[in-house]
Amino acid sequence: MKFTILTLFPEMFAPLDCSILKRGRDEGLLVFDLVNFRDFALSRHKNVDDTPYGGGGGMVLKPEPLYAALAALPPPAGARRVALLTPQGALFSQSRAAALAAYDELVLICGHYEGFDERIRALADEEISIGDYVLTGGEPAALVVIDAVARLTPGVLGQEDAARTDSHAGGFLEHPHYTRPPLFAGQRVPEVLLSGDHAAIERWRRKESLRRTFLRRPDLVPEAVWREGDYAILEELAAEEETVRLCRPLWAGAAPPARRRKGGDRHG
Ligand code: ADE
Repeated sequence: MKFTILTLFPEMFAPLDCSILKRGRDEGLLVFDLVNFRDFALSRHKNVDDTPYGGGGGMVLKPEPLYAALAALPPPAGARRVALLTPQGALFSQSRAAALAAYDELVLICGHYEGFDERIRALADEEISIGDYVLTGGEPAALVVIDAVARLTPGVLGQEDAARTDSHAGGFLEHPHYTRPPLFAGQRVPEVLLSGDHAAIERWRRKESLRRTFLRRPDLVPEAVWREGDYAILEELAAEEETVRLCRPLWAGAAPPARRRKGGDRHG
């Protein structure tokens, strides 16, 4: 997958040269193209911003350098998506990351300074915010988007399915993890994880994943994807956790799979 980043501060993208993103690039799975759109400024002094019409403080990004930078990109090798990073965009999420990972090229436009000329919005297919706070520019937000999308690109993570089972995949938070030693700082690893009983371990993980989500992020539950067997786990959790009991309307729809009737007539 190719990421093209239009920015005034390419040096802020040093993290692309580290860890898993670097390995993905070294293996030819990821391509990063950093474009400094100051290079496309029309004036002799390469100005990219100007004072706002109507007065008021601050500077506003001019539209021409970004239009020229986008027009000068090499033709896309496949499906290209252009996204503008702005606190006014749609809130970024795991499901948006998965949707963007389906493209061959993602172009990220990073605004900076107080704001940008409204006509810059017309360049983008979508606008993305990474949270309800204001950053000094779109660069840290672009890094967040690149990281979340790149790791969903096939082959980038060592284990192919690691991305699927982790927090937010399927909409639930991930279960707790433990490694050696079995007892540390007075805290013991749950017995079931040492048992070697894979079915029991799977069930424990699912239960703790549901528990975590209900206790920490009940807002995720309505969009999460239920699995067969969840209903029985939820009944157990309801006996253990008041929050799960109180949230019963959220999970009452996680019905147990209909039992097959004798004679095979499932519709009668
Ligand atoms: N630029 C400034 N703040 C931002 C945010 N929260 N998300 C995306 N881009 C931004």
